Amino acid sequence: MDDFVLTPWESRGRIDYNRLVERFGLRPMDGPMKGRLREAAGQDHYMVRRGVFFAHRDLDMILESHRSGDGFFVYTGRGPSGQTHIGHLVPWVFARWLQERFGVRVYFQLTDDEKFYHSSTLTLEDTARLAEENARDFAALGFDPLKTHIIRDTVDMGALYPLAARVAKRITLSTARAAFGFGNDTNIGMVFYTALQSAPCLLEEGPVLIPLGVDQDPHFRLTRDVAPLLGHPKPALIHNIMAPGLGGPDSKMSAADPNSAIYTTDEPAAINRKIKRHAFSGGRADIDEHRRLGGDTAVDVSYQYLRMFFEPDDAILEGIRDGYESGRMLTGELKQELIERVTGFMEAHRARREDVDLGEFWFDHDEYKGRMRR
Ligand code: TRP
Repeated sequence: MDDFVLTPWESRGRIDYNRLVERFGLRPMDGPMKGRLREAAGQDHYMVRRGVFFAHRDLDMILESHRSGDGFFVYTGRGPSGQTHIGHLVPWVFARWLQERFGVRVYFQLTDDEKFYHSSTLTLEDTARLAEENARDFAALGFDPLKTHIIRDTVDMGALYPLAARVAKRITLSTARAAFGFGNDTNIGMVFYTALQSAPCLLEEGPVLIPLGVDQDPHFRLTRDVAPLLGHPKPALIHNIMAPGLGGPDSKMSAADPNSAIYTTDEPAAINRKIKRHAFSGGRADIDEHRRLGGDTAVDVSYQYLRMFFEPDDAILEGIRDGYESGRMLTGELKQELIERVTGFMEAHRARREDVDLGEFWFDHDEYKGRMRR
C-alpha cells in the first residue's frame, strides 16, 4: 500500500520515487539514457548526474529529433501562487541549460488562471501580480530574450484558446476526474484548466521537451493521449524530484508557512535565520554522539539543497558529505556552507532580477504568427 499522495495540487507523505515511476509509468533516467543526453549536449548536467532529474517520457525521441536535424522546443511553467522559492528554480535552471546546449526556443507559461481557480484567497489581480514577480525570476536565469517567450494565461488567451479548445474537446469529464480526483464540488475552471496547460505543447509543429516537477505529470499524460489525434508528436518530459521543505524530507515548501522555504526575495538576514533555525538537521543529539556516529545526509535538508542546487562541483560536495557523515563536520558548519552559497547566489540573482527587461520576454502574438508562417 502506498502511503503518499502526489497530484498537481496536493502532496502528502514521503514520496517513494521508485514507486512513483511504477505508478505513473515513467522511464527511469538510467545510466545509458544519461549517457545519451550527455553526448547530445556535449556536456553533463549535475542535476542529471545526481538523479535530481530521475525519470522521463520519450527523451530518446527528442534526442533523435535533434540528431536528425528536425530539432525540438522546450516548454515549462509556473503557477503563480506566491514568490519564487528554490524548488521552483530547479526545472528552470535546467531549461536554461537546454537552451544553451541545444540552441532551442523556450516557452514559459504563467498560469494565473489556475492559481485563481485553485485558491480560496487569491484574487485574479493577486495571481497576475505574482506572475510578473515569477517571470522576473525566470528571465533572470539568463535566457536568450530572442528565443524565450513568457506566456500569461489571462493575457495571452487569444493565442492559447484555439489550441486549448482542440484539446478540451477530446478530454471527457470522467478522464479528468480519474487523472485529478475532481469531485462534484470542483469548480469548472479547474476542470477546463488542464487543456490550457496542454496548449503550449501545440505552439509549434515539432516535438516539445518539458522539464517539470513530477507532480505535474498527470496533465501531460492527458496531453500525450490527445496530441497524436491532433497530428502532433506526444510531448516528451523530464521529471525532477520535489525539493523538500526546510522542515525535513517529509515536509514541503508551503506558501502558507514562510519558514518552510527560502524565497528569491528573502534578505540575507532572513536566509541566515531560516537555515539556522528551521533547516532540518541530520545531526545527532549532542556533539559527542555526532563525532562518534556522524550525520545523516539523506535526511539533512542543508545537504540536500547543496546536492540538488547549490554545489555543482562533485568533488566539493563529496568532501562535505564525507566530512559530515564521518562526524568531523558539525551541523552548524554544514549550515554555514549552505548559507554562504545561498546568500551568494541570491545576491547575484536579485541584481539580475531587478535588471530584467520583461518587455523583451513577454509572448508577442504577432511575432509568433509571423514566425509560424515562415
Ligand atoms: N501547473 C503548474 C504549476 O502549478 C504550472 C505549469 C504550467 C507548468 N505549464 C507547465 C509546470 C509546464 C511545468 C510544465 O506550477
